[in-house]
Amino acid sequence: MKIDGRPYRTIFPDADGRSVAVIDQTRLPFAFEVKRLTSLDDAAVAIRTMVVRGAPLIGVTAAYGLALAMREDASESGIERASATLAATRPTAINLRWALDRMAALLRSVLAAERESRAFTEAARIADEDVASCRAIGEHGAKILAEIAARKGRPVNVLTHCNAGWLATVDWGTALAPIYVAHDAGVPVHVFVDETRPRNQGAALTAFELNAHGVPHTVIADNAGGHLMQHGQVDICIVGSDRTTAAGDVCNKIGTYLKALAASDNRVPFYAALPFSTIDWTLSDGVRDIPIEERDAREVTHLTGRTDAGDFATIAVVSPGSPVANPAFDVTPARLVTGLITERGVCEATEEGLAGLYPERRKAA
Ligand code: MRU
Repeated sequence: MKIDGRPYRTIFPDADGRSVAVIDQTRLPFAFEVKRLTSLDDAAVAIRTMVVRGAPLIGVTAAYGLALAMREDASESGIERASATLAATRPTAINLRWALDRMAALLRSVLAAERESRAFTEAARIADEDVASCRAIGEHGAKILAEIAARKGRPVNVLTHCNAGWLATVDWGTALAPIYVAHDAGVPVHVFVDETRPRNQGAALTAFELNAHGVPHTVIADNAGGHLMQHGQVDICIVGSDRTTAAGDVCNKIGTYLKALAASDNRVPFYAALPFSTIDWTLSDGVRDIPIEERDAREVTHLTGRTDAGDFATIAVVSPGSPVANPAFDVTPARLVTGLITERGVCEATEEGLAGLYPERRKAA
């Protein structure tokens, strides 16, 4: 991804060798600022406060957080403590747990004196693998978009929810990767961007990315999607995922399920794009078993943005004193999902579909 012509990843080891740099997503789209993480605490706070967010990116940030922790305490109990601190930051995205388990297993297998450098190397490897996976998701998903554009003989209209772009990963994104690959290959694509209340990741982050990459798009209120689908204005929905069960249930940003219902009612294909690190092979009933993060009521009661004068301002939008609930994710049952776009290809959202792409997992589970 390029910002003002300069290539960026969302997370990278800093040139000083002592810290990790991340793009502060709480400041976008109005300010592009890079923040330095120098300790376990910095990494945990960055994930909890959503300076970094998006399932794959919080996994990579947790991996670097563990590396920073090894500088402070490389003992066995240091690994345990740091893993527990990072795992507690956000409960729904399985990539966080996946990255921590992978890092901890490696660190336990090497001497304490080697742990810091091995941890940084492994975190960088996880980041590189994420980029490769997302790029491959883009290649597979772009074929679906190219086929629709060719069949319709006009730009393909994609609806997406939240931000599952390069800002949610290390680069490329999951749901947005097919859009970038198709756009770069000359396939005409237009994207309807759900604003994604309460935090507005669509309006703020997805729109920022698509603008930066020059992809035609239109931001819509969350409630507009069903209407557009009824009127034939959406050819395909593509969303990301924070956790996908072995049976193909897709947990993603709150509101995804409603879009899947509308898509099903209007026969609009509904895809989720995700890397292997998002699949929770231990679960088969997502609605029952995936923990849904409940976030601060203030995200619903208040909005932050930029005034016409150029200042940042936070304003109240809810009647004072009204009780508020803020579930951050929901689960779309597999029966509403047309297919899963992964780094290994596209499959049905079923146990058999996933097992066909990941045969080694069928044996392991
Ligand atoms: O709460 P967030 O902003 O971390 O939620 C992000 C999402 O729901 C994304 O759609 C999901 O992580 C997929 S990211 C490639």
